[in-house]
Amino acid sequence: MAAFTRNNSSSLSMLIPSLFFALLSSFNSVNGDAEANSLYLFDTIYQFGDSIADTGNLVREGPLGAATPFSRFPYGDTYFNKPTGRCSNGLLMIDFIAKELGLPHLNPYLDKEADFQHGANFAVAGSTALDTSILAQNRIMVPVTNSSLDIQVDWFTDHLKSKCSSKSECAKILKKTLFMVGEIGGNDYNYAILQGKTIDEVKADLVPKVIQTIKNAAEKLIDLGGVHLVIPGNFPIGCLPIYLTAFKSDNSSAYDKAGCLRGLNKFALFHNHHLEQMLHQLRKEHPDALIVYADYYNAFKSVLGNATLHGFDKESVLKACCGSGGDYNFDLTKLCGFDGARPRVLTQTKD
Ligand SMILES: *[C@@H]1O[C@H](CO)[C@@H](O)[C@H](O)[C@H]1NC(C)=O
Ligand SMILES: *[C@@H]1O[C@H](CO)[C@@H](O)[C@H](O)[C@H]1NC(C)=O
Ligand SMILES: *[C@@H]1O[C@H](CO)[C@@H](O)[C@H](O)[C@H]1NC(C)=O
Repeated sequence: MAAFTRNNSSSLSMLIPSLFFALLSSFNSVNGDAEANSLYLFDTIYQFGDSIADTGNLVREGPLGAATPFSRFPYGDTYFNKPTGRCSNGLLMIDFIAKELGLPHLNPYLDKEADFQHGANFAVAGSTALDTSILAQNRIMVPVTNSSLDIQVDWFTDHLKSKCSSKSECAKILKKTLFMVGEIGGNDYNYAILQGKTIDEVKADLVPKVIQTIKNAAEKLIDLGGVHLVIPGNFPIGCLPIYLTAFKSDNSSAYDKAGCLRGLNKFALFHNHHLEQMLHQLRKEHPDALIVYADYYNAFKSVLGNATLHGFDKESVLKACCGSGGDYNFDLTKLCGFDGARPRVLTQTKD
């Protein structure tokens, strides 16, 4: 259930996009002055990922997804006035990104009635980078969805057939398309660590496979004609209420100055380092593609470090914004949306 809680700590999510645009503008510098405004030339977005980006796939996927709290208030109540399947009361990063590009909210692919003219969202809350059968071989159980990254890319491949029929026709369309590949892989680690794997086991057994899977997915998108790819890293997971609660320690040296768990943050940096190495290789192998790493780790840390400036009270910075009490306002058995778990503060406002 780890994935579900990841957005609880991210009323902060509204603050991250501004950092993101600094990053997107790096496409411009690659393209040169002639296309100085290429940021605004995107007419389509395709998103892959997990609860960080899902705008309504999990809740449509089947009875298990429909039974998750994301189909109920307080999810969706701040912005849409109804639950949409987003794992947030308000908007997600992808909503801000679409808005900034002048595009409509990205519809979930599993909404068969939806308009996909400007793209589609294939992200599924709770999903993993690795195929769930591979995780099962490592004795890691994945709840609620089997729609891992490969499956999301297969959905995209099917979807593309409705847009274009030849490779050159597809390539032409995809020139103006932004691909958001992730964040993904975070849940593979969440499930493993919360189910008792040690960080060393996860480093050895999962990280190389997750990185390779992200590489394969990116290559498939490039082969299909994708040119602009953003591939985000993992967050400082040692700052998330779920981990702070599960790995609470009496040993003060387990925590950094911000009150986050050092070992888990170090692990997130380990993944990010390997991801960046892989991207370096990917750029060499595909010199015509523009592949940008999105540093969610430092974006999140920077927002957290300035939280009081952003209007959060000092005591609540590491607490879930919706929960049922406790040191971090978090209880795995009473997640936001269950009876007894209420929003504590709603800092996100309509715009
Ligand atoms: C995922 O796949 C496994 C194995 O096929 C199956 O037992 C399980 O019910 C599936 N889970 C979901 C949520 O569909
Ligand atoms: C406290 O944590 C530090 C760093 O993780 C470790 O080196 C040290 O042995 C721990 N001390 C105790 C008493 O467990
Ligand atoms: C506050 O934000 C600025 C600008 O993003 C950043 O450079 C700085 O490191 C942040 N402060 C902390 C303590 O994280």
